Amino acid sequence: MGDRVNRRWLLAQRAEGAVSETNFRWEETPVPDPQQGQFLVRNLWLSFDPTQIFMVARGDPSAPDEGGIPLGSVMPTIAVSRVVASRHPDFSPGDIVHGHMGWEDYTVTDGQDFTPTYRVPDGVPPNWAIGALGLTGLVAYFGVHEVARPQRGETFVISGAAGGVGSIATQLAKLEGLRVVGIAGSAAKCDWLSREAGADGVINYRSEDVPKRLTELCPDGIDIFFDNSGGPTLDLALERLRAGGRVVLCGATSRYAVRPQPPGPVNYLALVMVNGRMEGLLGRDYLPRRDEAFAALLPLLRAGRLKPKEDVLVGLREAPRGLARLYSGDNVGKQLLRMDEPAGH
Ligand SMILES: NC(=O)c1ccc[n+]([C@@H]2O[C@H](COP(=O)([O-])OP(=O)(O)OC[C@H]3O[C@@H](n4cnc5c(N)ncnc54)[C@H](OP(=O)(O)O)[C@@H]3O)[C@@H](O)[C@H]2O)c1
Repeated sequence: MGDRVNRRWLLAQRAEGAVSETNFRWEETPVPDPQQGQFLVRNLWLSFDPTQIFMVARGDPSAPDEGGIPLGSVMPTIAVSRVVASRHPDFSPGDIVHGHMGWEDYTVTDGQDFTPTYRVPDGVPPNWAIGALGLTGLVAYFGVHEVARPQRGETFVISGAAGGVGSIATQLAKLEGLRVVGIAGSAAKCDWLSREAGADGVINYRSEDVPKRLTELCPDGIDIFFDNSGGPTLDLALERLRAGGRVVLCGATSRYAVRPQPPGPVNYLALVMVNGRMEGLLGRDYLPRRDEAFAALLPLLRAGRLKPKEDVLVGLREAPRGLARLYSGDNVGKQLLRMDEPAGH
């Protein structure tokens, strides 16, 4: 693509626990040309997900080079992007797309990655397309509506409540008429949950006695636990499940950076005593049903009844910090990055 420059972040060093800028190397190369069956996009917004640490982290300590993407690869990400050149029958220049791209200005793809590329419907702002209506919104929507199967008046407890998925799921649970208790890791997050997301109760797990607070806020137990964090909170929720209780396994951020992996929940047999159910969901598998979620969520977003909470960094240079913030817990709401102008454009 002429003399245009593609700025990008490559994986330079595997992370041991925390991830930081030192794990990546900045590089500037010519913009590639798409081959037959491929298209070239300019990335506009990048998404950050805690599971990206698996691409960076060392795997089994006995095989230190294993795990994640190869060293020297462009760091993969979900992005919303604009097609700038295409040799693919389904995509044309000017299309706004959601797909699996990289921490770079331009990506060449055939659209067939783990998260297949699709066109963003006209009129949907790109930050919604990657957040409240992206994979984040899909897992929140299908997790609450399909996996949890909520009944009005039930008690819904959620960990990671003020993060990307959590901030949407919390509000959707309220819209379903549930009593919602949000668990989060800072006063600012708890404040947002009470004031903006409508949570009936909040627990700061870093400063409060979680077992005591759960008992106070859920005296009759928990009907639904939506788990984003895993770890000890999952065990505490399991032992408080009511008859027919459901656990929605969305993720377990507390485990991802820990090597070796800690054991799983101790209290899983509590499910037997309450005829309970614990069920995972993978957002990617719901992509073919995204129109259903869009039809439900877009009117809520447009009416202001669902308020997307976004934490936006600006400029590709900030990408490593975007991922690190998910582990420091600094992000409030969905961690996004809006791209700056690439050099030479
Ligand atoms: N199943 C799927 O298809 C799917 C799709 C997308 C995301 N997910 C999962 O959903 C969860 C939330 O993802 P997200 O993108 O919305 O991220 P997020 O919740 O916006 O960000 C991660 C949050 O995790 C919490 N955290 C960090 N370290 C922690 C630790 N050691 N213990 C407990 N909590 C910790 C922090 O919140 P606090 O300050 O509140 O602790 C941090 O803000 C993740 O587990 C993710 O993998 C699953």
